[in-house]
Amino acid sequence: MKKFKKNILCIGAGYVGGPTMAMIAYKCPQYKVTIVDINPARIDEWNSDNLPIYEPGLDEIVKEARGKNLFFSTDIEKGIIESDIIFVSVNTPTKTFGVGAGMAADLQYWEKTARQILDCAKSSKIIVEKSTLPVKTARAMERILTSKNSKIQFDVLSNPEFLAEGTAVNDLKNPDRVLVGSRLTKSGIKARDELVEIYANWVPRDRIITSDIWSSELSKLVANAFLAQRISSINAISVLCEKTDADITDVAAAVGLDSRIGSKFLNASIGFGGSCFKKDILNLVYICRNYGLYEVADYWESVIRINDYQQKRFVLNMLTTMFNTLAEKKICIFGFAFKADTGDTRESPAIYVAKRLIEEKAELVISDPKALKNAKKDLDGIDENVSYIEDPHKAAKGSHAIAIMTEWNLYRDLDFEKIYKSMIKPAFIFDGRNIVDHKKLYEIGFNVFPTGKPSLTHFK
Ligand code: NAD
Ligand code: UGA
Repeated sequence: MKKFKKNILCIGAGYVGGPTMAMIAYKCPQYKVTIVDINPARIDEWNSDNLPIYEPGLDEIVKEARGKNLFFSTDIEKGIIESDIIFVSVNTPTKTFGVGAGMAADLQYWEKTARQILDCAKSSKIIVEKSTLPVKTARAMERILTSKNSKIQFDVLSNPEFLAEGTAVNDLKNPDRVLVGSRLTKSGIKARDELVEIYANWVPRDRIITSDIWSSELSKLVANAFLAQRISSINAISVLCEKTDADITDVAAAVGLDSRIGSKFLNASIGFGGSCFKKDILNLVYICRNYGLYEVADYWESVIRINDYQQKRFVLNMLTTMFNTLAEKKICIFGFAFKADTGDTRESPAIYVAKRLIEEKAELVISDPKALKNAKKDLDGIDENVSYIEDPHKAAKGSHAIAIMTEWNLYRDLDFEKIYKSMIKPAFIFDGRNIVDHKKLYEIGFNVFPTGKPSLTHFK
């Protein structure tokens, strides 16, 4: 049997655990990497030709390493016993019950994992927080892990993940930075160096930064809050553009060229979705309130309020421009994923928009190249008047309006002449992502409603 330098275990085979561990295995053949999960169906998929998540480039690296030094399993106990280093990458959603419901992070999966590690471990280990967690969680983790007073030592590190879905493989291959937080004790620093050594197999040393453990935990929440804040800032200006005949794309370009501001993350949109921004900001708000920092909490909460407003006003705009009734009108939704290049629909603005349109008694046709399976789950029980058609040309046929929810590249180059001909007139298009050529669509005959730009209509 091949002897590996160390055994790495990852608990949680999701959007983070799967790709991050596949990259470590791919870049570090000297380590054995095992990923475990309580969900056997998910593990079966990781072991099959149809991986449970769509991520460009992921199939290749998984296929390259799987069976050599990358393994997927449901045997969590065995994994813990055999491991030297354990990454914990379980989900930490917003709590839905009790104290902090709707705001605080739900740490039940996290704590169960900590206790399972304690119960099964027979030797000392490094425990790495990969999940996004409230600042000071490592202290809780340490308290659980030392509760047996045994000789086994656990060093807890914080190593937050900054990958974005849709670009995960590239983000992992060329990260802006890798952050490792540790206790600044002798053993904490030794553990930290061991983790740094793993990343140094492919990440330049100057991009691997270290800090105390609390700064590391907090940096993850703050990074997401800052990114989301930029989107809410530009979205707040997008509605002002619509009122003043200014163009958000021009405004964003002019503002973004200031090198102190930068051009990234200034695309006005239907609002940010995804499993993390909302939950992490709510978590930050909750932490601030717990420390009595009410003004700070309100400041960050406003990022979420603008995001909700952006989605609400999109539907209201559809309703008012389509003569104040959507009942029995067929509306085609282009894109259900929360962003392009992923099948993930968690917190996707399309869910809110679809639910509101269903309330208005519209008939929906939903199209998406990767997210239809998840869309069906999201609308389960309320989708009597919803159909799911992958081909956008077929999906748009006979509809009164198209609403673009996801910036999939394929929507940029559709045959809009053909689509227009197949639609009920007057035909409307609402571009929640500003990805199609508005002038061209107007010339074809559409009434066009972009985000943050003047609308182009044929009405007198
Ligand atoms: P996910 O829901 O896709 O995956 C979590 C996995 O953990 C699930 O498969 C679940 O079955 C498993 N799990 C839960 N409890 C378990 C237990 N006790 N034992 C074994 N497995 C268990 O979530 P995700 O998107 O991968 O996110 C994981 C964490 O990473 C979250 O804290 C999230 O905030 C953070 N994060 C996510 C992203 C992202 O882009 N999705 C990026 C950076 C950080
Ligand atoms: C985000 C962060 O970008 C990652 O760094 C972080 O690791 C991750 O959250 C996390 O903690 O989960 P992700 O949510 O996967 O990644 O995707 P983003 O690219 O950040 O997009 C989030 C949402 O913002 C999407 O709905 C996207 O369409 C929207 N967005 C993004 C805009 O509306 N405008 C922009 O300019 C950029």
